[in-house]
Amino acid sequence: MKVTKAVIPAAGLGTRVLPATKAMPKEMLTIVDKPAIQYIVEEAVNSGITDILIITNRGKDVIEDHFDRCPELEERLLASKKQDVYEEVVSISKLANIYFIRQKETKGLGHAVNCARSFVGNEPFAVLYGDDVIIGDDPACGQLIRAYEKYGKVAVGIKAVPEADIHKYSSLKVDHLEDNLFNCTDMVEKPQTKEAVLSLYSILGRCVLTPDIFDILDNTAPGAGGEIQLTDAMKTLAQTVGITGVDYTGKRYDMGDKLGILQATVEIALKNPSLGEPFKAYLKEIVSTL
Ligand code: UTP
Repeated sequence: MKVTKAVIPAAGLGTRVLPATKAMPKEMLTIVDKPAIQYIVEEAVNSGITDILIITNRGKDVIEDHFDRCPELEERLLASKKQDVYEEVVSISKLANIYFIRQKETKGLGHAVNCARSFVGNEPFAVLYGDDVIIGDDPACGQLIRAYEKYGKVAVGIKAVPEADIHKYSSLKVDHLEDNLFNCTDMVEKPQTKEAVLSLYSILGRCVLTPDIFDILDNTAPGAGGEIQLTDAMKTLAQTVGITGVDYTGKRYDMGDKLGILQATVEIALKNPSLGEPFKAYLKEIVSTL
């Protein structure tokens, strides 16, 4: 079945980016000239997704406003003959059919994804983590969809993380299939001892799930951090039917982390058609003084 639906969980508290995220959702933090979540929605759309459910919570109404029309602003732009900006602003509201639901309590990523059950129905669906921006020529979400279509199993985006950091991530048991694809048969969330580490491959940012994940989530007890972990539910699938790991191409930026935000800003600004050259000249000047 073709994957046309996506879920973007964006209901986290963003405690690692405080105080910026006290009143502003981290998904709305700007990278150059667009909020992070717009890059993620664009990636989904470029991967063939037509319907997107964004999971929000209190204080995240600005996300809804960003994907809505804004008549007063549009009129002003037209009146002042700013046709290009007008078209860009209007196009945001036409990217996809975007729906919203609130996760009423912040009980973890697994709990957030479980809020998507009625939106998803009986179809496979993509999940794009709301604070992971991935930039690349071949959209990461589309790479996972192709892996799902080829192997018929849940597909997860994976990346090798530094050994010193693996205790903050999930660790996967993987066997190489072909190219950048792996069969994953087990996983552990946030391994706290060296012995618990299965490999340095971790699930990062994206997955394509099947609706059987919902019954598993219903029966998943709170795990690391007292939250319902999506990886704990995926582990059940990995151990029974196996899942496909995709070491996707593209650079991932962690917008839930202050250094990640700075890296995204610098690297994406350097690629910007109008700002890239002057920004590069500015950076060179700064670097020469360091
Ligand atoms: P994170 O664990 O990175 O988000 O979840 P967080 O809880 O905001 O992070 P801290 O507080 O800085 O440690 C990954 C994604 O899952 C969403 C987040 O919004 C983020 O996009 N999420 C997390 C939810 O939607 N609901 C939750 O209960 C937890």
